[in-house]
Amino acid sequence: MSDSPNKLTTSWGAPVGDNQNSMTAGSRGPTLLQDVHLLEKLAHFNRERVPERVVHAKGAGAHGYFEVTQDLSKYTKAAFLSEVGKRTPMFIRFSTVAGELGSADTVRDPRGFAVKFYTEEGNYDLVGNNTPVFFIRDAIKFPDFIHTQKRHPQTHLKNPNAVWDFWSLSPESLHQVTILMSDRGIPATLRHMHGFGSHTFKWVNADGAAVWVKYHFKTEQGVKNLDVKLAAQIAGENPDYHTEDLFNAIDQGDFPAWRLHVQIMPVEDADTYRFDPFDVTKVWSQKDYPLIEVGRMVLDRNPENYFAEVEQATFSPGSFVPGIEASPDKMLQGRLFAYGDAHRYRVGANHNQLPINRPVAEVNNNQRDGAMIHGNNGGGSVYYEPNSFGGAAESPAHKPAAFDVSGKADSVSYDHDDHYTQPGDLYRLLSEEERARLVRNIVGAMTPVEKDEIKLRQIGHFYKADPEFGQRVAAGLGLTVPQQGE
Ligand code: HEM
Repeated sequence: MSDSPNKLTTSWGAPVGDNQNSMTAGSRGPTLLQDVHLLEKLAHFNRERVPERVVHAKGAGAHGYFEVTQDLSKYTKAAFLSEVGKRTPMFIRFSTVAGELGSADTVRDPRGFAVKFYTEEGNYDLVGNNTPVFFIRDAIKFPDFIHTQKRHPQTHLKNPNAVWDFWSLSPESLHQVTILMSDRGIPATLRHMHGFGSHTFKWVNADGAAVWVKYHFKTEQGVKNLDVKLAAQIAGENPDYHTEDLFNAIDQGDFPAWRLHVQIMPVEDADTYRFDPFDVTKVWSQKDYPLIEVGRMVLDRNPENYFAEVEQATFSPGSFVPGIEASPDKMLQGRLFAYGDAHRYRVGANHNQLPINRPVAEVNNNQRDGAMIHGNNGGGSVYYEPNSFGGAAESPAHKPAAFDVSGKADSVSYDHDDHYTQPGDLYRLLSEEERARLVRNIVGAMTPVEKDEIKLRQIGHFYKADPEFGQRVAAGLGLTVPQQGE
């Protein structure tokens, strides 16, 4: 039999003679340990999975570019934003939050909206959601919150008791809960939703002057949501519906696009604004801080390989570039640690050397060794700093901007505890049909909660946002609204 020109090989590159029949001692004898191709094949297969992300496990990704449409260099020295028309390659990963890697796309959940910009000054990751706010506002509550969203430790079932118990005891969640239970809780496709950085970040210009900034990606496709019944039907019939839609749209040349806008707040306003602008459960009024367009993001290329690009992608809210820095947002501060730590565990210490994560900027970090080194590991070049051998040196011009801190070290809450005005405003903005669907969704989600105490506590929050909101949810659940002070 003649050899194929395209030879199947072992992982060490040697041609494989037989890939259909394992080597046995006689045609009916036991399989031989000597069949090293078989051993390697079975052993590698056992190692095909890396741990799924502890949250946002189910996702879809795409490549594209970001093009600047307005010069905002008076606010930030970020090189990739420096001039109109400048293009930067980027990769995005959309995701659901609570479900596992194989879970259905069309469920009620926030959607992750994680963007990696491959800039000439290093990778900038904007790891946001399709909602402008979050359920909690201090990183210390995140593991508890996510436990309530995941499965019960005994039954391995989703647990509405835990979900509503936690939310009702954490009233700062009300704004995000109201958004989640509204029509926007189930987007029609990943293309038909906005994206947000959610947190407040700091921009710093070439003179070292800072402003606070919030990011808004506005979909050019328009916002479209799925009807609840249709979503449930699709979840059964095609659990990968959103993943498939994104791939097919790009494959057919129908490239989805978003306009990136920012809200800019002068630093001094943070001390006097009517609530704490670093509280991620609140939005800044667009009357106070209007949207300013920055650029346009276009997704025009599908991944060639899902695992290599989408599963191994590692986004970190701590991957900043000069001109973009953290704010004192207590959630963001915790995230600065959590993601890099997750990446070292989930993908490995050298995850940034993988092609999908590798910066286009030159990396000179004096890190050496560790599992899965790519390339020559720095060869014989200088591997410490400071040094007398012309190795890479720090650049003081790129130090983050200095800022003042004051006060006592303590565990304290945000000092403004109005959890009700913004969700109430949102409720009052909705049309009658939208309110009816919101209430129906909440009633449906709360009906399985066993304790009336939990339901009543949560109804109290809806009531405080808007009495009608509370009364309608209570009526739907067959309960009476608690009076003020109860
Ligand atoms: C993924 C932690 C809050 C958006 C993750 C992952 C962790 C994590 C450990 C998995 C990372 C990986 O394995 O690659 C946290 C913690 C939070 C927090 C500790 C609060 C302190 C948020 C918030 C947002 C967000 C507020 C959005 C505004 C995302 C997204 C992903 C993600 C989009 C998926 C990234 C991807 O596609 O790879 N989070 N998270 N998270 N988180 Fe968070």
